[in-house]
Amino acid sequence: MKKILVVYFSQTGQLTEIVKSVLSPLVKSQDVSLVFEELRPKRKFPFPWTSQQFCDVFPESFQEIPCELEPFSFNADDDFDLVVLAYTVWYMSPSIPVTAFLKSPEAQKVIKNRPVVTIIGCRNMWLLTQEKVKALIYDMGGRITGNIVLMDKAKNLVGIATIAYWMFTGKKDRCLKIFPRPGVSDKDIMEAERFGPIILQALLTEKINLDQAELNKQGATTVVPSYIIFEKRINKIFKIWSNFILQKGGPGDPKRQFRVRLFFYYLLLAIFLIAPLATLVSFIARIVSRKKIKKAVEYFSQNSLKH
Ligand SMILES: Cc1cc2nc3c(=O)[nH]c(=O)nc-3n(C[C@H](O)[C@H](O)[C@H](O)COP(=O)(O)O)c2cc1C
Repeated sequence: MKKILVVYFSQTGQLTEIVKSVLSPLVKSQDVSLVFEELRPKRKFPFPWTSQQFCDVFPESFQEIPCELEPFSFNADDDFDLVVLAYTVWYMSPSIPVTAFLKSPEAQKVIKNRPVVTIIGCRNMWLLTQEKVKALIYDMGGRITGNIVLMDKAKNLVGIATIAYWMFTGKKDRCLKIFPRPGVSDKDIMEAERFGPIILQALLTEKINLDQAELNKQGATTVVPSYIIFEKRINKIFKIWSNFILQKGGPGDPKRQFRVRLFFYYLLLAIFLIAPLATLVSFIARIVSRKKIKKAVEYFSQNSLKH
């Protein structure tokens, strides 16, 4: 009997649905037992968010500053054969509860010398987040053997509008009946079940050699070339903004609220003015450095970490 630890955090339940779908063939298998660990922050994050609350979690998300979690229910000394880590992206970083898990002594115990499968549910930007997660997992002596990413397939600006509507109203329906439904489509969530048998088959072999290429044949990761350039650029700007806000205090500190507000206005400006311009620049850069981009796409489609 193979034993899997499944760690996840989902605010609206979307990621939970994704996890359930991917793992349903394993749940049905008599050769596997699964231990589900839903992370529970001591201070709940709000949902729906106000724009101020949404921006106030930015510095800690981006700089990977953990929150406090309720004690875990799993036994970190259990002999798990595989760890499944399912996470959402907050500001190009793992969500704060997932960062808290990854920085806990219990994660150190369960991840060391173990294979890890990551499942990501996000809007569309996951490349540099996965680099951060890779770094934490490899630092603990774990190895990522598979990565499955589900994202919103709407065009970037449409996706921004619908996720803002979802996050700020709490409604996952079609805004004004004009926009598509926000988030990952129900069809994509349902069809994620196809990854389960691939994980199961690898799990039942001696060394659990999950093949990312096999998963990719089924569409496990999609690397959008323009986002490679985009994410790298945003990363640099986020570094400056997060330091600027943190200088004034920690989460919710009244002293930093003015800077948090400024960041919100910056985001609006970036979305409506800078993003279209950046798309054009990315388009030109892609033509100029085609070989470099091709290499980068190959890199982000696999699980090793560049040093
Ligand atoms: C504070 C916050 C920041 C987010 N930042 C990003 C981001 O940078 N990139 C992205 O693709 N999705 C981002 N998202 C969307 C989430 O990754 C996720 O798809 C959504 O919150 C639903 O996840 P759930 O299962 O926890 O409800 C963000 C969500 C929140 C709440």
